[in-house]
Amino acid sequence: MNSFKDRDMISLRDMTIDDLWTIVSRTGEIKTGKHRDCLKDKTIASLFFEPSTRTRLSFESAVVKSGGSVFGFADPGSSSQKKGESFSDSIRTVTGYCDAMVIRHPVEGAARLASEVATVPVINAGDGANQHPTQTFLDLFTIYEEFGRLKNLKIGIMGDLKYGRTVHSLTHAMALFDAEMIFISPPSLKMPSTILSDLSEKGVSFRTLIAPEGAADMNLDILYVTRIQKERFGDPQEYKNVAHGYRIDKSTIAALGEQVRIMHPLPRVDEIAEEVDETPNAIYFTQAHNGVPTRQALLGLVTGGIN
Ligand code: NCD
Repeated sequence: MNSFKDRDMISLRDMTIDDLWTIVSRTGEIKTGKHRDCLKDKTIASLFFEPSTRTRLSFESAVVKSGGSVFGFADPGSSSQKKGESFSDSIRTVTGYCDAMVIRHPVEGAARLASEVATVPVINAGDGANQHPTQTFLDLFTIYEEFGRLKNLKIGIMGDLKYGRTVHSLTHAMALFDAEMIFISPPSLKMPSTILSDLSEKGVSFRTLIAPEGAADMNLDILYVTRIQKERFGDPQEYKNVAHGYRIDKSTIAALGEQVRIMHPLPRVDEIAEEVDETPNAIYFTQAHNGVPTRQALLGLVTGGIN
């Protein structure tokens, strides 16, 4: 029985460990050639109210590879929002044109609101600084491919933990898999207290650090690095105070140990030196490429093309 059929994908908070295993295992099946044409006769709307390279293009590639069709916009300036149409009216209209819709929006809660007016499944491709569930799905798949397990890993989650939606979703998921989490960020970009108190309530252990070198003796399996989310700062001075404050290079890897795998949702600005790309520790481009099969699996599940 496919528990994903007709379901919205808005937040990791709505998901169980079984849901996450379903995504990971179906993605593995897609990679071995199963579920070909799982989006045959399906039409997917791709509505990006905010810039994107990987998320939008990997969703669109996923639809085409699975035999479906995709339409939408990459720039809200080309939609009727420009004429003053409300978000709800746009969604109410597009829901009649498609079998599922993928939405990225700068406002927290936009995807949830869309799911309340749409009659087809809504997939949140990032809502402001809140959540980015499909990034977490591909992160989990990449971790599983690399380590052969999801449970009991030691992960450093680093960078802009305040505004980074990828790490908000990832933290929920890693907590379900009993990870030991080390949050590494400048003090002003700490993980929101709502998320930390949620972890404490669940009895999940975590530590906080301000620099990755502090994790030198911890034998981290993964260092998950993120970009400072410049576009979310209300005050440009607040951004300037923290910009260019950290950078992972080969010496960081030497300090953390050769076992560490470096992940990043991308795009990177300057937080990972290019010299890291050629090391066996860097798995961020593989991670980005896993966006396609992961999104094929997810769209196949929600539209019923995969059971
Ligand atoms: C992330 C996002 O949009 O939140 N990018 C992505 O989807 N891979 C991370 C970021 O923009 O820094």
